Amino acid sequence: MSEFFSHTQQQPVKILLLGSGELGKEFTIEAQRMGLYVVAVDRYKNAPAMQVANEFRVIDMLDALQLAKLIKAEQPDLIVPEIEAIATKALVKAEAAGFKVVPSAKAADLTLNRKGIRDLAAKELGLETSDYQFVETYDQFCRAVNDIGLPCVVKPVISSSGKGQSIVRELNQLDAAWQLSQEAGRAGAGEVIVESFIKYDFEITQLTVQHAAGLSFCEPIGHLQESGDYIESWQPQALTDTTLAKVREMSEKITTALGGWGVFGVEFFIRGEDVIFSEVSPRPHDTGMVTMISQDLSQFALHLRAILGLPIPAIKNYQPSVSKPLLGQGRGDLIRFSGVEQALSQTGTQVRLFGKPDINGRRRLGVCLASARSLNAARKKATDMVNAITIHIDSSASLS
Ligand SMILES: Nc1ncnc2c1ncn2[C@@H]1O[C@H](COP(=O)(O)OP(=O)(O)O)[C@@H](O)[C@H]1O
Ligand SMILES: [Mg+2]
Repeated sequence: MSEFFSHTQQQPVKILLLGSGELGKEFTIEAQRMGLYVVAVDRYKNAPAMQVANEFRVIDMLDALQLAKLIKAEQPDLIVPEIEAIATKALVKAEAAGFKVVPSAKAADLTLNRKGIRDLAAKELGLETSDYQFVETYDQFCRAVNDIGLPCVVKPVISSSGKGQSIVRELNQLDAAWQLSQEAGRAGAGEVIVESFIKYDFEITQLTVQHAAGLSFCEPIGHLQESGDYIESWQPQALTDTTLAKVREMSEKITTALGGWGVFGVEFFIRGEDVIFSEVSPRPHDTGMVTMISQDLSQFALHLRAILGLPIPAIKNYQPSVSKPLLGQGRGDLIRFSGVEQALSQTGTQVRLFGKPDINGRRRLGVCLASARSLNAARKKATDMVNAITIHIDSSASLS
């Protein structure tokens, strides 16, 4: 793949980035550093990655026809999905027609829907998971909850960041959980997964890199979630040798089955020495934003290297590190931050503000990164940073 960097080529390698959020923005910055050409796509204008890309396109990525038309028009060298909610059937067709999908069209297609990936993990690969059933109607839902038992977790099959997700602890919460799952599913599909609730000690993301020379692992990342959305992640999360070996064996199995080169975020619940597979993203992971401060090559740099077929020698780790998102709440299209100077007053701190153009509800608008000699010290710094920053949300005259 070294012709990617040839100066005699008329155009540098062209990447079609599908999804232009904060993860896509950091990936685009890495691609720009290598002189690549990025066309950033999302369903709205001025999305974070569009602000650093060469060009942008606004389409409904869940519309297979629109997506196929765009791929044909752009003729990208690499198609890089940043999110799950994409008409992945169009990616399968594009791959068959000779386009390169990262890491593979199969990986994008199977992880679009919780059903594809869960059945692959539990049934085909025999990985330990929570008990689960897929349901389409309210009656099936009630039967599934009865079979699986309480408490259980309910999620739309196509959704992310906790949207439409709830925990049912008592039977009188059934109606509300069903209602929420039907309103919030990204693609509007009514299908739902009902999972047994795992009483884990903690949960982790194992960033796994499949690349030309084989397999690399980052140090495990621990994380805390609130309503299915991450509120803190840290690296390294210590594991016993037995647990770490299980985590890595399971990560190798699932990422190999999905196929292709790139970074995968493999999520697990850890309970004693039990390792329970939860889900996997065939791309950088939100909890992996901590690697922007904890490693010499962040997950975004690793993703780019892997997909270009470049070497990944040992990944260098810096000090223990913590990331905490800046979560905004409200409605408006004028978003400002104060207190950033105080947040950055200590050594080993960094802030990323994503430049999202507006907010309606709860939205991740930035992230605070801190490293220190110990995880506790890094956590304290990151907490101080989030507390120091105030988010101001106002509306311009044009926002009706
Ligand atoms: N079966 C479960 N038992 C306990 N907690 C769960 C379970 N499923 C999900 N969760 C919690 O919800 C979070 C989000 O669920 P996940 O399946 O990762 O959805 P998403 O695709 O939105 O990230 C998890 O990180 C975990 O904290
Ligand atoms: Mg998750």
